[in-house]
Amino acid sequence: MAALSDSTHFDWVLAPYDLAGSRAHARVLHRAGLLSTDELTRMHEGLDRLAADVANGDFTPTRADEDVHTALERGLVERVGPELGGRLRAGRSRNDQVATLFRMWLRDGARRVATGALDVVAALLDQAAAHPGAVMPGRTHLQHAQPVLLAHHLLAHGQALVRDVARLRDWDLRTAVSPYGSGALAGSSLGLDPAAVAEELGFDAPVENSIDGTASRDFAAEAAFVLAMLGVDLSRIAEEVIVWTTAEFGYAVLDDAWSTGSSIMPQKKNPDVAELARGKSGRLIGNLTGLLATLKAQPLAYNRDLQEDKEPLFDSVAQLELLLPSVAGMLGTLRFDVARMAELAPAGFTLATDVAEWLVRAGVPFRVAHEAAGACVRAAEARGVGLADLTDAELGEISPALTPKVREVLDVAGSIASRDAHGGTAPRRVAEQFSRLTAVVADH
Ligand code: ARG
Repeated sequence: MAALSDSTHFDWVLAPYDLAGSRAHARVLHRAGLLSTDELTRMHEGLDRLAADVANGDFTPTRADEDVHTALERGLVERVGPELGGRLRAGRSRNDQVATLFRMWLRDGARRVATGALDVVAALLDQAAAHPGAVMPGRTHLQHAQPVLLAHHLLAHGQALVRDVARLRDWDLRTAVSPYGSGALAGSSLGLDPAAVAEELGFDAPVENSIDGTASRDFAAEAAFVLAMLGVDLSRIAEEVIVWTTAEFGYAVLDDAWSTGSSIMPQKKNPDVAELARGKSGRLIGNLTGLLATLKAQPLAYNRDLQEDKEPLFDSVAQLELLLPSVAGMLGTLRFDVARMAELAPAGFTLATDVAEWLVRAGVPFRVAHEAAGACVRAAEARGVGLADLTDAELGEISPALTPKVREVLDVAGSIASRDAHGGTAPRRVAEQFSRLTAVVADH
């Protein structure tokens, strides 16, 4: 049963938070008249010594310690004696302790993840800045659709990532409430002030309801979702890097330092970072769904099932802390073959929509324009040429409205320049997006 029940092997990372909680709790016990000033001083000295011993490894949990809380209580009793050490238990329970400390750990972890995600955005911004005029075939259904600026495409990934960072910030507003003082579930009868503990531990306020404080883990599930979403967003970038670096695409080459070779094939350059990003997103989703399944149908308040809440989140944060710097390194050092991308940008008749929209600007109804542009594609396809290679006569035959002036949109640069509404791919609009995203990153 001990082997089943023990959590010290994973919850030991909460030790610094548990010690901070104990310091704050000692202070409210003192304020409530339950510890003398001398006892508070000795308690804090003992906790400081214990913290130092934990930090330098002189104090570690033993097999007999069930969890981080019981281990540290033993450590305190060993340092200040059972009489004083035993007083700290008053008015608190491991139920409110663990709910508080887990929130503290997760808030710090979320901040580290946010920093790592913003570094990935910075790498995307750097690549966008380095390739202001580079064009590529924009795709839908992975098929060539319309030409876009490479920078526009890279910044699209940046937008998704800054939303994830914004989600973490927004999540923090809900998570910054402290369950300390909720006791086992019903609150404390000892005149302790939960608000004082909350403030000392960096929370905005104590929880409204002690039952909810000890029973709720939606803060963990919500964090698991945001971390999974971040993983999914990274996996979408990763998948593109994987295809972009194939011989068939040839859009980009990975830097040697951020790719791996093969033990048998000397020519290989494998996108392992991208593949691990793609693969780990599955694990992050699993952490979310596993936790939700654990929480489902648990009656209020604390149940031991809740001990299963920590490992998935510890894991999601740890995986992202490994992944994010590598993804930033891989993206920042990717070398784009802009000539190849420019050559492919008009391929697959990506300018057909431009023909249709040019006709609309000339007063032709879109249904008719769409039909005429389709006829241009069929004519070019039949001759095995591009849209721009159709002669004036061929164009005029398809529609009298198709004058030679249509050629202004039959080149990639003209097409891109024409999409200049807010958010579009025209260079000045992408430059605006770049500035705003740069400001968002600088703001965090
Ligand atoms: N280790 C437990 C957890 O992580 C906290 C202990 C509460 N245990 C109890 N029997 N009330 O959730």
